[in-house]
Amino acid sequence: MSKEIVLSGIRPTGFLHLGNYFGALRNYVRMQEDYNCYFFVANWHSLTTHPNTKELQQSVHRVIAENIACGLDPNKVALYVQSDVPEIAELYLYLNMMAYKGELEKTASFKDKVRSNPENVNAGLLTYPVLMSADILIHRALYVPVGKDQEQHLEMARNFAERFNNRYGEVFPLPKAFNYNSELVKIMGLDGNGKMSKSENQMATLYLADDDETIRKKIMKAKTDSGPTAPDSEKPDYIQNLFTLMQLVSTKDVYNQFESNYNNCNIRYGDFKKQLAEDMAIFIKPIREKAAEIQHDNVFLSKVIKEGAEKARESASKTLLLVREVINMNY
Ligand code: AMP
Ligand code: TRP
Repeated sequence: MSKEIVLSGIRPTGFLHLGNYFGALRNYVRMQEDYNCYFFVANWHSLTTHPNTKELQQSVHRVIAENIACGLDPNKVALYVQSDVPEIAELYLYLNMMAYKGELEKTASFKDKVRSNPENVNAGLLTYPVLMSADILIHRALYVPVGKDQEQHLEMARNFAERFNNRYGEVFPLPKAFNYNSELVKIMGLDGNGKMSKSENQMATLYLADDDETIRKKIMKAKTDSGPTAPDSEKPDYIQNLFTLMQLVSTKDVYNQFESNYNNCNIRYGDFKKQLAEDMAIFIKPIREKAAEIQHDNVFLSKVIKEGAEKARESASKTLLLVREVINMNY
């Protein structure tokens, strides 16, 4: 039986961080063993908010290097750059006819970006979810490993696919957001403000490229409070976030110890953060070192990118053939 198809992408808008790792990359690495996987760098998407392309090439190379450093094997998956696969742009064009202005304007990510950058509300930004749907549907992918912030985009991809299928014929399976632990992940910033992200407060974001000292500094500055006053209290979200990070990088025993300290109201956040910082530094170090090594190996990177594009285009052109057939565009 042929394996089910998986696809996901990351924008090259900055250094990758723990939100990317735990929301996306960690799942990619596990999925490569069991599925037919396509992972890519979404450089067209980055143009919707980052028109200055001076550092784009370097960022694309770094994201590819960081993907491999996290454990992706380019021999097992197709690891490619979006702009190397022009078939995506053609499918984007067809899907744009299935997308209504009203629903695009209501998308949460669009409204956020209009608010944060009112002087550049371009059509690419409005149709961001359509391009993302084309990324997914071009390989007829079923599972899409992403963080919680992408849930709405996935719902839109399913709608566009369904409309296409109803109008022209069954070409696309309906794709689903995926996480091994059933719940999609959202890692908050260390300052307790919103999601950890590439370009917001840098002190609140733990990057996979941070050195040990920077990691310690950031974690020791993370937002805490004076601690719980009643046993077994619910944790405020910024404390829960630190516990989530500890659960991800520390041993079970360490985690359980602090969890029980919290529940007994005798947690010392200084000790808690020190332990988290140590374990986090141990976790990030090998990824940082491997990524740095790969990033400077241009011969290797070019080979990976070229082979990735070949695999992606082979699959994409098959889908496009079907698409053209059902919409009577084959002359
Ligand atoms: P982006 O960096 O926005 O291109 O996101 C790439 C992937 O990382 C997507 O699957 C996102 O859902 C995921 N991601 C980004 N930030 C976070 C976060 N703070 N928590 C969980 N997942 C995230
Ligand atoms: N929109 C995603 C993000 O901001 C990146 C992305 C683009 C993507 N195309 C995709 C993710 C296709 C999954 C599938 O993180």
